[in-house]
Amino acid sequence: MRHRPRGEHIIRFDGVGLRYGLGPEVLQDITFALPAGSFHFLTGPSGAGKSSLLRLMYLGLRPTRGRVVLFDKDIALTKRYELPALRRRVGVVFQDFRLLDHLSALDNVALPLRVRGVKESEVQKHVPELLGWVGLTEQLHAKPSTLSGGQKQRVAIARAVIGRPDLLLADEPTGNVDDHIAMRLLHLFEELNKLGTTIVVATHNEAMVQRFGHHPRLHLEHGTVQRVS
Ligand SMILES: Nc1ncnc2c1ncn2[C@@H]1O[C@H](COP(=O)(O)OP(=O)(O)OP(=O)(O)O)[C@@H](O)[C@H]1O
Ligand SMILES: [Mg+2]
Repeated sequence: MRHRPRGEHIIRFDGVGLRYGLGPEVLQDITFALPAGSFHFLTGPSGAGKSSLLRLMYLGLRPTRGRVVLFDKDIALTKRYELPALRRRVGVVFQDFRLLDHLSALDNVALPLRVRGVKESEVQKHVPELLGWVGLTEQLHAKPSTLSGGQKQRVAIARAVIGRPDLLLADEPTGNVDDHIAMRLLHLFEELNKLGTTIVVATHNEAMVQRFGHHPRLHLEHGTVQRVS
């Protein structure tokens, strides 16, 4: 993994605004910076703009105004062909999972490693190990359509963390699992964080945020960051 000195910012937003099409601004005046190695919860009521903010962070959308700086690159000034390399350093757990339906759980999780050219022997060792860790040993060869919501969510999480990204963005990653599994998944994120990954977990689950109260919080309301605490 790349070495990143602590204290450097992994991502920075400066006066960012976002509107979809000709609609109103759903995000306004978003300014914050996340230090490398930090772990933040992203909270806020439904519709506050959490998923939209994550989309801007993983370069799924361009801001309508303001500046996004990811891994020290101002996105507006970065050449289009350089963006995929930045994007590959970001792991994303989508709110709606986005698994590939024609691939097994194992092959979905293996994808980021195979894209990167990791040896198949390594893939066959690490992927089942991680899927076992999230409680899916029995489902290695199952297609997503045969899995429950919580099982799909765990496949999506395994796929996002398998490549040890520099930045992990998880959108309601525990929305479909029971409390016991939710805690286990949060601990998995903490382990990854100890290895150097900067983490942002968007969630409604106030009880979970309280329980992991040692992590700071980025709170969104009415489309803007109310506080970073
Ligand atoms: N693709 C889109 N096109 C138009 N408007 C959108 C789109 N996606 C989100 N919005 C609007 O942007 C605002 C913020 O939505 P967003 O999904 O970011 O909120 P959220 O905080 O993630 O909500 P939830 O907690 O329900 O997931 C909402 O008003 C929503 O209607
Ligand atoms: Mg959302």
